[in-house]
Amino acid sequence: MASACKGLRLPLGPGTLVEFVDREAGVAWLEALAERGSGFPIVIYGPEGCGKTALLLCARRVLEKAGYDVVYINPLGRQGERLMASRRVVEAAGRIVERLLGVDAVSLAEAAVELAGLLLDRLKRPRLALLLDDVFQAIGVDRVELYAKSLLNLIEHPPREYEKIVVIIASSEGVSRRRLSRHMWTLQYTLWNLPRHALELLLEQIPGGGLHADEAWRFTGGNGRVLRLLYELGWDAERTLETLIEARRLRSLLDGLSREELEALRAFAEDPVKAESLILREGRLVEKLVESNLLIEIPASRSTPPWIDAPPRVDKELGVARRLAWQTPAYRLAVLRLLQEAA
Ligand SMILES: Nc1ncnc2c1ncn2[C@@H]1O[C@H](COP(=O)(O)OP(=O)(O)OP(=O)(O)O)[C@@H](O)[C@H]1O
Ligand SMILES: [Mg+2]
Repeated sequence: MASACKGLRLPLGPGTLVEFVDREAGVAWLEALAERGSGFPIVIYGPEGCGKTALLLCARRVLEKAGYDVVYINPLGRQGERLMASRRVVEAAGRIVERLLGVDAVSLAEAAVELAGLLLDRLKRPRLALLLDDVFQAIGVDRVELYAKSLLNLIEHPPREYEKIVVIIASSEGVSRRRLSRHMWTLQYTLWNLPRHALELLLEQIPGGGLHADEAWRFTGGNGRVLRLLYELGWDAERTLETLIEARRLRSLLDGLSREELEALRAFAEDPVKAESLILREGRLVEKLVESNLLIEIPASRSTPPWIDAPPRVDKELGVARRLAWQTPAYRLAVLRLLQEAA
């Protein structure tokens, strides 16, 4: 258990909290970042439900421990968790912080940059950390580039001298990544689903036991959100698959594909490792699947960085190829199910 985040509790279901598990390498990465500061805004990409918010909540602790004044903003979060600020931030900008508690998601995301500028101005040579959760989803993909640039400006041309600054954005959607790849304004990292031993630690904490670890691993690949869904649906994998198919409107998605695209998708569902180069040639299809948050583009290199914490191995069953992966094996299974039904 990583000591800095020991005791951090996260929701798993109604009335069920679990303790933050593992992420030793991720915590070490955060500690090194705290030591150095960031010269660019850092964007953490990763599958929906892989644990980005969990890591940012852990980052709050690591950075506060390292003497940072921390502002955590999650415009799409629940009331009470949308804006969390360190004591000195509240002292320096309490009125503004209070006012921001009531604004809509877009305004909150936008105000984060202004608040950081104001804090740099008001705090004396601060160590300031800005943790921005899901802000790209809040502002919309068309404004992602300008937003990233304004954060870079804050780092490069602050209103006053600072000691250190850390800016981290977490995002699960791959379209913004494509937009950001047109510039050298951010550094992009990837966080993967929890590794197998962490999933086991999580399962041990869940009342009623749940699934056998092997089965949970094959189904979720360590994705916390899919695990939550399984828990919600009484550990019924069949029902979970059907729920995913309906909720993600996978039938309609497949209806909209051409015959060639369907064949490429079938090949990538059956064996992602073998069919990776085939599907990568179907640019429009890959774009659609990335946009639908079923697939995610991942760094081809498996060394760290650009990975935070353990990178996934290339693995057919888990749906992970070299540059492209299913966000969780459950999606691969769901699409396979539909394609088999149609055959
Ligand atoms: N390190 C962890 N320790 C314990 N549980 C975790 C951890 N990471 C994720 N989880 C579990 O997985 C769930 C989903 O994680 P989280 O909300 O952090 O994902 P996310 O990547 O932020 O998803 P999204 O992209 O949808 O915002 C958590 O509610 C928690 O139950
Ligand atoms: Mg999140």
